[in-house]
Amino acid sequence: MVDIDKYFKPDLSKARKRTKEDTEYVSYELDPKYQKIGIGKTYKIQTYGCQGNEADSETMAGILNSMGYISTDNEKEADVILINTCAIRENAENRIWGELGRLKPLKRKNPDLLLGLCGCMAQEEKVVNRILEKYDQVDLVFGTHNIHMLPNYIMQAHFSKERVIEVFSEEGSIVENLPKVREHKFKAWVNIMYGCDEFCTYCIVPYTRGKERSRNKDEIIAEVKELVQEGYQEITLLGQNVNAYGKDFKDIDYTFGNLLMDLDKLGIPRIRFTTSHPRDIDMRTIEAFKICKSVMPHLHLPVQSGSNSVLKKMNRHYTKERYLEVIKALKEARPDISLTTDLIVAFPSETEEDFLQTLELVKQVGFEGAYTFIFSKRAGTPAASFEDVIPETEKKERLRRLNKVVNDGYLESSTKYVGKIIKVLVDGVSKHDENILAGYSEHNKLVNFKGDKSLIGKIVDVKVTIARTWFLIGEALE
Ligand code: SAH
Ligand code: SF4
Ligand code: F3S
Repeated sequence: MVDIDKYFKPDLSKARKRTKEDTEYVSYELDPKYQKIGIGKTYKIQTYGCQGNEADSETMAGILNSMGYISTDNEKEADVILINTCAIRENAENRIWGELGRLKPLKRKNPDLLLGLCGCMAQEEKVVNRILEKYDQVDLVFGTHNIHMLPNYIMQAHFSKERVIEVFSEEGSIVENLPKVREHKFKAWVNIMYGCDEFCTYCIVPYTRGKERSRNKDEIIAEVKELVQEGYQEITLLGQNVNAYGKDFKDIDYTFGNLLMDLDKLGIPRIRFTTSHPRDIDMRTIEAFKICKSVMPHLHLPVQSGSNSVLKKMNRHYTKERYLEVIKALKEARPDISLTTDLIVAFPSETEEDFLQTLELVKQVGFEGAYTFIFSKRAGTPAASFEDVIPETEKKERLRRLNKVVNDGYLESSTKYVGKIIKVLVDGVSKHDENILAGYSEHNKLVNFKGDKSLIGKIVDVKVTIARTWFLIGEALE
């Protein structure tokens, strides 16, 4: 029997706590004793979940490179495999369990392979217990609050025969100066804050990511200046609730709108951000859409439901009417703004009437796209204990009906760009044809057009000729 209690495991009830203490800021430095551990060895990182996880994986890659490791796509030859997980819905977790099963034979062939699990699932006690009991192929588990300690964990895991499990339930300091290997050469993630204090009743994120902490504005500005110098064309500011940026600053009145205005002066062509919360979005931010040239005319503003009684049970702190007022102010500030959203169907006790209100709201706002989900029970969150009586078939039927309305909105919005000249930042070649380039417009529409690979990373004028539901087709003007 494994003694599963001897490890440093997470605890969701501790993770719920919020302290009044000020955030500490520390600077990362790699201890020279770790610098050579990875020489001659390779690693592979598999990333699931949101952009927050993608940004964390870039940091882990940076740390591993600084230890001498080299990245590889070939899992059969990797010496270290890290799985950066997401806990947002049950099916996200099921994928990971399947993946761990699939990787098990690799471990048999190469007993020296170090298999690690990190990210949001690692913050759940039940996940760590299951790994300890049933997944002996996993050598290392660490959470979202201790990525900067990766060198230490790798060293322990390489040199000891024991599994290394260390997950902190509560957030610690904000660690600056972490190395990064950015995935793209012209688009970058920039974290501006960590954690979430909203506690929507269905959501696990406030438990897996800790309390809201804002990065110092000067650190963010310095990072963006560097990106501009390196020729980056687009930044996406990241946080679970970017509109809460700066609310934890005690000595200055500096919020997300101020940050956008300061970053706009630095000469980066495109600024995007995700995710916004309707309750916290303020006039300064709305104003930024009007006056900042680099702030792109697209906003992802999750509404979740169109029913006030469901919104209340979700603890969203706004009504449908308030949401519509925000939309109105946004459209006044930037008439062409493109709006997308997240929606959950079949939240416990959602009635047909509640659901119809969601459909109505989607039509009323005219969303240009939406991510739609069936409510998923997350152990440890309040909604997990709400009575859930909606039959499975009904849940699926609501999702199907919602998707139909959402897709009509996608196509309708795509159609309005036909005949227009739009600016596209070219990402790369299309998956299906290498003579076709693919990129995103200012309004965040996927656009395909014929062109030379040398345009990758550039912003190109494209005339839209055809609208499809999920993308536009056009011709380059140059
Ligand atoms: N902080 C962001 C992202 C949260 S996760 C935000 O507030 O928008 C992305 C989306 O996943 C959420 O907007 C919500 O629509 C969905 N989601 C979160 N928890 C869920 C759950 N338990 N079941 C179904 N969908 C969920
Ligand atoms: Fe989850 Fe709500 Fe926070 Fe978004 S705002 S991360 S949905 S608790
Ligand atoms: Fe998933 Fe964690 Fe992001 S639960 S959505 S990876 S914050």
